[in-house]
Parts: sequence; structure tokens; C-alpha cells
Amino acid sequence: MSARRILVTSALPYANGPIHIGHLVEYLQTDIWVRFQKLRGHECRYFCADDTHGTAIMIRAREESRREEDLIAEMQAGHEKDFAEFDIVFDNYGSTHSEENRALCGEIWQSIREAGLVKEADVEQLYDVEASTFLADRFVRGTCPKCKATDQPGDNCSVCGHHYSPAELVYPKSALSGTTPEVRSAGHLFIELEQLHEFLETWTQSGDHLQPEIANYLKGHFLGEPLRDWDISRPAPYFGFEIPDSPGNYWYVWFDAPIGYVASTRQWCDRTGENFDDWWKSSDTEIHHFIGKDITYFHTLFWPGMLKTAGYSLPTKVHIHGFLTVGGEKMSKSKGTFVNARTYLNHLDPNYLRYFYASKLSAKVDDIDLSLEEFVAKVNTDLVGKFVNLASRSAKFVGSTGLSAKYPEDDGLFAHAAQVGDEIANAYEACDTSRAMRLIMALADRANPYIEENKPWALRKEPAEAQRLQDVCTVALNLFRQLAIYLAPVLPQLAAQTGELLQEPITSWDQAKTPLTGTPVAKFQHMLRRVEEKDLHAMIEESKAELPADGDESATGASTSTSDNDGDDALAAEPLAEECTFDDFTKVDLRVARVVEAEHVPEAHKLLKLKLSLGGGVTKQVFAGIKAAYEPEQLVGRLVVCVANLAPREMRFGVSEGMVIASGPGGEEVFLLSPDDGAVPGQRVH
Ligand code: 2FM
Ligand code: ZN
Repeated sequence: MSARRILVTSALPYANGPIHIGHLVEYLQTDIWVRFQKLRGHECRYFCADDTHGTAIMIRAREESRREEDLIAEMQAGHEKDFAEFDIVFDNYGSTHSEENRALCGEIWQSIREAGLVKEADVEQLYDVEASTFLADRFVRGTCPKCKATDQPGDNCSVCGHHYSPAELVYPKSALSGTTPEVRSAGHLFIELEQLHEFLETWTQSGDHLQPEIANYLKGHFLGEPLRDWDISRPAPYFGFEIPDSPGNYWYVWFDAPIGYVASTRQWCDRTGENFDDWWKSSDTEIHHFIGKDITYFHTLFWPGMLKTAGYSLPTKVHIHGFLTVGGEKMSKSKGTFVNARTYLNHLDPNYLRYFYASKLSAKVDDIDLSLEEFVAKVNTDLVGKFVNLASRSAKFVGSTGLSAKYPEDDGLFAHAAQVGDEIANAYEACDTSRAMRLIMALADRANPYIEENKPWALRKEPAEAQRLQDVCTVALNLFRQLAIYLAPVLPQLAAQTGELLQEPITSWDQAKTPLTGTPVAKFQHMLRRVEEKDLHAMIEESKAELPADGDESATGASTSTSDNDGDDALAAEPLAEECTFDDFTKVDLRVARVVEAEHVPEAHKLLKLKLSLGGGVTKQVFAGIKAAYEPEQLVGRLVVCVANLAPREMRFGVSEGMVIASGPGGEEVFLLSPDDGAVPGQRVH
């Protein structure tokens, strides 16, 4: 088997929040895969970085009165510390706010320009004439229209709490220049992805690069109609990189984020003397991206399109995983199941989570569930009961003699486990770690009876049985070592401890083929303790205490599957409406629609402006009161249900030609309804 060169990435975590156990599904899945490849002798490198740009960081930095650079540096230090303590090891961990990334963005942008894929179109926003810049709400200040407090921000009053739009302020002033802003339209830059339609159709549908369910999803949802233009610029102020040939405009965060994969590689090449082109421009190198299903669109359409246009290698495979649920429900701050990595580490051993996720993950896009009972059972029954006990029940009886000089008769146990190695390796290779764990635990199930039948603890009391004791322990420790090798990608700490115990480090998968004989055994050190339910409960309590119960529920790496409560209060708050006839109901024409554009309305503090596609070239402009609950970028690409025959309404900012259906009392608690996978724009909702 010749060594493969493999470049691996995980999605870059946003710099505006800490790592939580939902994120860890992906970083652990990737780390396990990378460690497996390295153990097999391949030249595998794992690159990641913090994703630092965009409005969220800019606004937070302003609110905290510090430079964005300081904010992102602090967040990155936290992320890197959390990853390290979970034994997630990167070959390079960079930042999208790096000079390497800026240079690569410029180079790739140039190629996209030269390929004729960029077009310009106007978008309206508030404009500061003196500062020559467009203004987000937070950069407008003035007198509160309600309480008349002066010098209030553009979205809500810090004195009376009233919400308003910047245009409602009495004497609005730009926070940047102190002048009165005006409404202006600005040219945004768009990439015409449709020009790459044929290439993307072929690449996504080849059967090689994507899981079948993802390829089908793309075919059914995007590739059946023209691909929409992608707005990749934002006018200043924006925390990001200014576009060199479009002064005052910045690349949208999703343009420079994936280029961060390449920039992180570049940093590593500069540090190690590796040749960059060998990694990103060579057909001999495999490129594997690991991502969550929520960012499929960016990685399977935009990103291959950008790479292709710029002459870089295309991903060999994009591995897409589902979200994490806890106890069958989405992670919930109020229930304490939205657990930050740091909170977990305060109470539990990272090895537990590494093994638990490995035992749940497969090559499918399905969500994975963390049930606390299952967590306890897997750790205590599998890891401690079946695996670690093999060593703890034998190592201490051979401390002085070491292993037998010749490998003893073992009823074929070692040979069998050596032979199953290929099957386990195939499961790891296919990202089917749950199968790999099942195969390994089946081997443990064969090894344990050997110890129970041969009872080394009894043999040690019989001086005449000294040789047999050494032989039994030699078998037990070799069977244990095989499992430690197979589990090394998942449990690197235990693999290292095993290497110390048996005085030979675990460095290669093939070590599982040959037993150790005639070598010394070190004093047995405790390896892993059983998990206590009380520690899990303490972790949950700490999570509850540190997060506001009404906080937002992030979907990144978490689940969007079920609601946090069953809404008994909601029904009481809004009793059922008066009965209506079926005819009444059918007057409302509900249709599936796709959000093709979403943006803030600078003058409106509650509204987002959406462009909905109903398929067949029909679009509707809708102003939706969902701004407090959704960021525009979360919405683009998703399906919603729209009231398609609502009479158009003239609003201050334009005409609203329909409505999107949502539940919830309003404000941050608005929940858009989506049809299940398979629905297509234009379908009527009955
Ligand atoms: O979804 C996210 O959390 C993004 N920060 C992922 C970026 S991945 C890549 F494109 F950079
Ligand atoms: Zn006020």
C-alpha cells in the first residue's frame, strides 16, 4: 500500500462564540479520521482556522469598545485551548484575518473576474455622505422619538428601551461623521454561478464526491433551476478584506471563509518548507472537507465553483454530518443541554465524548443523539468494563517478569483480531466509526472470557503456576494492545498509556498484526475511571447557570429538530380562532418558496426584505418581521411556506407581495415553518 497525500479540513468556527458539544461532533469526527490516516502511514494533514469576518464581529467589537483584532484574538485563544484539551490536533490552525488569506482572496478573485463571472447590481441602504460609507443601524445615532433622550443608537433607545428604525430618529446622525445620512443605492458585486451550472451538475452528481443523499438534495433543490447570482460584496463599514478593485467594498464573509482552508495550508507550508502546489494543485493529493449539513450549499456549489475557476484542486470528498440532539431534543440552554466545551471539561473526561461520538457516527447525514443514559452505559460498559479491564486484570501480575518469550497458545484469539483489522480499517476509512467501534467491542467480547476462564488473580497465588500466569497475562495484554491500536484514533491518550505500559509506543496500525513477546511491562497506571451520573448532572447544572434561559438557540452543529417546550402556555396565550369552513381555508393559497435573497432594511428595525422564488421564474418580494430572530445569511437557500395570494401592501420601503408563515410571539421568538426535504418551490400547501 503506497502512502496517500491527504489534506483534511473541518469547517472554520465563527469567532463570535465558544466551542460547544454540537461543534465537537465535527471536530472529533475529523480528528479521528485524520489520526486513523496517520496511523495507517499516510501523509495526512489537518487544517483549520477561526472564521473572523462579518457584521457580527464588527458590531460586538464596537459594543465592547475594542478592536475587532483584539476580540478575535481572544476568541481564537479560547477555541484553540478547548480543541487541545479534547486532543483535537491540527497541523495548522490559522485565522481568516491573516495576510495569507488576504493574498489568496485577491488571487482567487482575480481569476473569477478574468473568467467573466462577476457582475454589478444596485442595492439600497442609508449612506453617510461625509464618511463616504453605508451605515448599518448601529452606526446611526439620534434623539429617541419616544422619550426624546439624545444621542441614542439607530435601533433602540438605551433610556426607555423603545425600538425604532434609524429613519425614525429625531435628527438622525451618522455615528461615524456626525452628519445626517441619506438613502442611497450601492453597487454590490455578484458571482454568476449559473455560468458554472454544467460543471457543478457533473461534479455533484458523479457519485464520487458527495454522499448520495446530498447529491440528490442538490439535484432536487438547486440544480433543477438556474443557479442564482451570489452577492459577495458588502459596503463599508464591514469587518473583512476590502476588495482591491472595488474600493469601499468588502468580500462577504462567506467568500473569504473557505479560502481560509487554503490560507491555513499556506501558513503551514511557509513554516515547514512544504511545497504549496503539492497540496492544492496536484492530482496526487486528496482533499477532504468535513462539514455540518447546514453549510452544504456553500461547500458543494460555491466552493467547488471558486476552486475550479481559480485552477485549484477540487475536493475529493465533502463529508457531511447531521446535528447533535441531546435526549432526542435540540440542545437547550434552559435545560442545560447546550453545553460549552469548557463546561464539559470542568466535569468530564474528554475520552468519554470521543468514544461516545465515535460509537454514534456513521457515513450518513442523520442527526446523532446524545442520551445521558446511553453515554453512561457506553463509557462504563464498553470502555471501562470491556476494554480497560483487560489490562487492569492482567498487567499487575506480570510487572516483574514481563511478557513470555514465546507467544502462547490462545485459541486463535490474536490471529482472529489481527484478521478483523482490515474490516475495522475499512469502516474508519468510510467514516463509519460506529461500525468500527462495534467490531472492536466484539473483539473485546471474545477476549474477556479468556481472562475469566484463566483467572490470573487465582494463578498468582500458586507458585507452581508462575509460567502459566505469565502466559495468560501475555495473551491478555496482547489482546488489549490490539484493541488499543484499533482504538488509537479515538482514544489517543489511552494508546499512549498502552505504549508506556508495554514499553513500545503505538505508531502504526500494522502493529496489531504481531504480538509482543519477551518484553518488559511497566507498572500498571490507572487508565480511565467510570463515569458518574452525578458529574453529568453537575455539568448540566453549570450549563443552566451560565446561560440565560431565554437565550438564543444556535443551530451551528446543534439541532433544529424539536422545540424546547411543547407550548402549553402558547395555546393559553392565544386561544383557537373561530371555526372556519374548508372553503375559507382554501382561499389562502399557501406555497412552498425558496428564499433566494435576504437583506436588512436599514430603516426598519424589525424587518428583513426577502426575495422568494416560487419556481418557474416567479418571484415575490416580502418584508417579514423576523429580523430579531434570523440573520439574512441563515435564510438564503432555505425553503419556507408563503401566503402567495395576499393582496400586495405598499410599505415605506417598497411593496410586500406576500407573507412567510411563522409561529411564535415575535421578537427573537419567531420560528419559520419549513416543509420536509423533497418539497419544491411552487408546490401548494394543503
Ligand atoms: O457555519 C459556520 O460556523 C462557518 N463559520 C463555517 C465556515 S466553513 C468555511 F467555509 F470556512
Ligand atoms: Zn427613548
